[in-house]
Amino acid sequence: MPGKILIVDDDIDTLRLVGMMLESEGFNIIAAKDGQRGIALARSETPDLIILDIMMPELDGYAVTRQLRQEKSTRGIPILIFTAKTGQDDKMLGLELGADVYLTKPISTRELLTQVNKVLSPIEEEEAKSPGKTNAKGAIAVMAAKGGMGASTAAINLGIALLRQTRLPVIVSDFRPGQGSLALDLGYDQSSSFNRLLEITPKEISPQLIEDTLVDHNSGVRLLLSSPNLRDAKYNSKIANFEIIAQRLPQLADYTIIDLGPGLTDLNLRVLPYCSQVVVIVEPAPQSVSQSRELISELSILGIESDQIKLVVFNRIHSALQLSFGEVEELLNLKIASAFSPNREMANEASIHHIPLMILRPEGLTARQINQLASHFIDQDE
Ligand SMILES: Nc1ncnc2c1ncn2[C@@H]1O[C@H](COP(=O)(O)OP(=O)(O)O)[C@@H](O)[C@H]1O
Ligand SMILES: [Mg+2]
Repeated sequence: MPGKILIVDDDIDTLRLVGMMLESEGFNIIAAKDGQRGIALARSETPDLIILDIMMPELDGYAVTRQLRQEKSTRGIPILIFTAKTGQDDKMLGLELGADVYLTKPISTRELLTQVNKVLSPIEEEEAKSPGKTNAKGAIAVMAAKGGMGASTAAINLGIALLRQTRLPVIVSDFRPGQGSLALDLGYDQSSSFNRLLEITPKEISPQLIEDTLVDHNSGVRLLLSSPNLRDAKYNSKIANFEIIAQRLPQLADYTIIDLGPGLTDLNLRVLPYCSQVVVIVEPAPQSVSQSRELISELSILGIESDQIKLVVFNRIHSALQLSFGEVEELLNLKIASAFSPNREMANEASIHHIPLMILRPEGLTARQINQLASHFIDQDE
C-alpha cells in the first residue's frame, strides 16, 4: 500500500536517513528543508502523509500544521510530527492544531515505520484486527423495522442521557442525507455541512475534518447532522464515505450514536458492521414485532449477536392490538432493555419547540425510561 510521503525537516541528516529508510520500503519520497517549501509541496503534490519537524527557522512545524489544516486542498492529509521537542505541552499543541501523530526523536526506524503504516492505513488495520466482527468500541446504532417508530427521538435523547450520566463527550448523528430529521427536530433546518464529507473521496475524510463538521447543541452533545434538503438524497450512494465516518466518529467521543432509521438499506447494511451496539425500536403490536424479528435475524447474519442488541419498546399510541412485554420478549427471544410510554402532548411540545424530551421534562417518566436505556451502555463499560 506504499504511497507518497513528504518529509519536512531543516536537518539534512534526518531528511536523508528517514527518506532512505522509507524509500527502501517502497514509498515515494519528496522532501522540503523548510516550512514554506513544505506547504508549497503539500499543495502541489498532495502527498498521502507528511512527516513534519517542529523546530525550523522562519515557519515552524506548528505554523505549518495550522496552515495545512486551514486550506481545503491540504486539510485531509495526515500529519505525523517527528520532533526533538519532548514536552507534554508541545505534544498537546501539535495534536490540537490537527496533527494525527506526535513522535519524538530519537526513535527506532522500525517504530517510525510502524507509525507511518498505521497512519496510512487506519481502516485496513481495524479490519485486520477483527475481520467480519463488529467493532468493540464502535458506535451505537439506533434503528427500527420501519419509519415513524421513534428511532430519532430515541437517538438524540439517549445521547443527552449518556452525557448527563457520565459527563463524557457524546456525538449524535443521523445517516440520512436528504431526510435529516435530526436537523429538523432540533431546529437546524438549513444544515447541510455534512454534505462536504460526502462530496470528497473517502480517503480525504480525516478525523479533523469530521470534527470541523460537528455542531454544538446546547445540551452539550455534538451533532453531525444530515441535510434535510430533499435533493441531497443523492448522497445516499456515498456508502464508502459513510463507512469511514462510522468508523472514525467513535474516535472523537466516548459515545457515538447513529440514527440509522428504518430498514436494511444498502447504507445500513454496510455501516452496521462498524457499530458495536444496536438499539432496536419495536412497537408492541403483532405486525411490528414480526418485522422486528426479521430485522434482528438479519442483524445476526451481519455478525451482530443478541447481547449487542438493546430492545426498546416504544409505545406511542395505546391500542387494543397491544402485546404484553412478556409476549414481545418471547417472540423476539430478547429481553427488553427499556420501554418508552406514550405521551403525545409532551412529544408535540418537544417537536414544536425543537427541544428534546430529556431537556423539556428531565424529571418526567419518559426521561427516566431513557435514562434506564442509557444505563445499559454505562454498566457495560465498567
Ligand atoms: N413518547 C411519545 N409519545 C407519543 N409520540 C411520540 C413520543 N415520542 C415521540 N413521539 C412522536 O412519534 C413520531 C415519530 O418519532 P421519530 O422519532 O421521528 O420516529 P422515527 O425516527 O422512527 O421515524 C414523532 O412525531 C414524535 O413526535
Ligand atoms: Mg427518524
